[in-house]
Amino acid sequence: MEQPLPLRDDERVLVLTGAGISAESGVPTFRDAQGLWREHRFEEVASPEGFLRDPALVWQFYSERRRGMEGVVPNAAHRALVELEEALGDRFLLVTQNVDGLHHAAGSRRVIHLHGELFVTRCASCHAPPFSDRSLHLEGPPPRCPSCGVGLLRPHIVWFGEVLDEEALAHIDAFMQEGGANLRFLAVGTSGAVYPAAALVQLARRHGGGTWLINAEAADNRDAFDHFTQARASSAVPRWVTGLLGRQKA
Ligand code: OAD
Repeated sequence: MEQPLPLRDDERVLVLTGAGISAESGVPTFRDAQGLWREHRFEEVASPEGFLRDPALVWQFYSERRRGMEGVVPNAAHRALVELEEALGDRFLLVTQNVDGLHHAAGSRRVIHLHGELFVTRCASCHAPPFSDRSLHLEGPPPRCPSCGVGLLRPHIVWFGEVLDEEALAHIDAFMQEGGANLRFLAVGTSGAVYPAAALVQLARRHGGGTWLINAEAADNRDAFDHFTQARASSAVPRWVTGLLGRQKA
């Protein structure tokens, strides 16, 4: 594996993760999850229109996803990113497309959940803040908002046809701008097919600090990266982090 150059004190690191980083924890990736989605079309369970049509079905689907996370724990790749954050503090930012909550469970704190969070719920109608929620609604009517009492609750997930949180995108942009040429970018376990996440490497590349991809196969946007390591996240990410930090200590 190609090791990164030593990390200097003025450098910062932006890491983008996708489903592949959780695969070895036992969470199916989107590409591998055909079984998971087979019974439903994406539009039925993961779009605002689907929710309007059959909110109980949508809750059943996400309740099954929540239940599927029982006993699932972070792996060595999640943990290595915690180690990196602990060493870098505010010079580190983690952007994840995963809704599984495993980065938080591992101990990551500077995390942007680009596509939402499975264990967070919000009202579909009022502006009450989203809240942590592990409840299951496998049958019966969908839950109602305890704040307004009228609206239906929905999973805090970015569905097809919905826009990403502007504040989150602005935060990423600001982090990159501040990094300038001192920004290192790593993408892990993502197919590079879903935008705007797949375009982050292009933005990072303009800064010139170096771009790395760790993935089980060549991602669709592989050519945009300076370095590609074809490997499993649980072995390659800890090595990448040790390289950065080890050399810093030397
Ligand atoms: P995908 O399922 O599309 O891609 C997962 C990638 O991880 C693939 O390229 C695999 O080769 C790779 N992979 C699998 N196991 C791995 C391992 N152990 N180590 C390293 N790499 C591994 O998942 P994402 O790219 O995350 O969006 O999908 C992006 C978005 O597409 C999702 O967030 C979701 C979906 O539409 C929304 O829900 C909005």
